Amino acid sequence: MLLQQLSIQRLRNLSDVKLEFSQLNIIYGDNGSGKTSVLEAIHYLALGRSFRTHLASRVIHYDHDEFLLWGKVNDHSIGLQRFRNGDVTIKIDGVKAKKLTELLDFLPLQLITPESFSLLTGGPQQRRQFVDWGVFHHDANFFAIWNKCKRLLKQRNSLLKRKASYKEISYWDRELVTYAEQLSELRNRYINSFNPVLKGIIERFLPDTDVTVGYSQGWDKKSDLTQLLEKNYPRDLALGYTTAGPHKADLKLRCGTVPVADALSRGQLKLLVCALRIAQGVHLHSQVGKQTIYLVDDLSSELDGQKREVLIDQLVETGAQLFLSVIDASQIKHQTSKYQCRLFHVKQGVITRDITERE
Ligand SMILES: Nc1ncnc2c1ncn2[C@@H]1O[C@H](COP(=O)(O)OP(=O)(O)OP(=O)(O)O)[C@@H](O)[C@H]1O
Ligand SMILES: [Mg+2]
Repeated sequence: MLLQQLSIQRLRNLSDVKLEFSQLNIIYGDNGSGKTSVLEAIHYLALGRSFRTHLASRVIHYDHDEFLLWGKVNDHSIGLQRFRNGDVTIKIDGVKAKKLTELLDFLPLQLITPESFSLLTGGPQQRRQFVDWGVFHHDANFFAIWNKCKRLLKQRNSLLKRKASYKEISYWDRELVTYAEQLSELRNRYINSFNPVLKGIIERFLPDTDVTVGYSQGWDKKSDLTQLLEKNYPRDLALGYTTAGPHKADLKLRCGTVPVADALSRGQLKLLVCALRIAQGVHLHSQVGKQTIYLVDDLSSELDGQKREVLIDQLVETGAQLFLSVIDASQIKHQTSKYQCRLFHVKQGVITRDITERE
């Protein structure tokens, strides 16, 4: 996948920007100049949402009522217009898209920001989303199964809140168990094939650590889910929600027996997040042939020169299109000197190509 061109209008402080990208793109400029906003625009075009806020109105330039994005992706034209009242229009090759999911398949994207280590330090939901990104792109059945599980669990929880009898709940549990097992099987299969790729990158990024990756499906492997739901019924009823199931799945990353969040430094956590995200893209490409794009905001934060070099080398080796933001291009000049790259200087929302770039 290649984002060849991007036009951004009225998004944050970017009033009117037109960019032509190459394989390796470096976006640099002072604090508050608009670097993250460029990455936010790419993210919006790929996924129909920001990574900084759930409120579209925050992303629209203060003086306007909508922003407009247009991108050329592998010679397809993608347009997205977002209004302050929440309306959104998406056009793919001039044809109005009916659903946001039409967009998702177009530009698989991996994002790494200074906040990304919350993938390791935060709750399991983020890690489930991480796993599901991979399963979604690998298996065409995933979305329907995932959606079914989500709806059945929602319904089960509302029955629990209404203090429904076990008889009533068990009628729906039969269907829930079927989809839960399918979902778990897809996730398991994905993780087993993804793990060796991840292991290789972790060894390169963190050679002195012994990070292991385990997966918990959300209920005891040895238990039958139907029986477990029955056994848990009194507790679930008291709590008003379902305590075991695929919605409790988690990826367990440990150093020895200690969770990585308690064992690794911030720089090491950042590298581990980078390893996870890069490995997903590499694995997707090798298995499905789809190339991911990588957005790395504030690449140099938390990393020393040698680690920056390892990270940039690994990113370039993926063969994917890269968008890297830094405050000062000289921070990564040494590490990128061997590669062709396009440099974009951002100053108060205005972006210019750097004449000293190497292409
Ligand atoms: N809705 C908006 N309309 C106009 N300007 C905005 C809006 N929201 C934020 N801004 C401004 O946009 C500018 C760009 O912010 P951005 O986060 O992209 O900067 P940055 O270059 O990534 O900075 P840093 O190096 O500090 O991360 C900031 O000056 C911010 O105040
Ligand atoms: Mg920023």
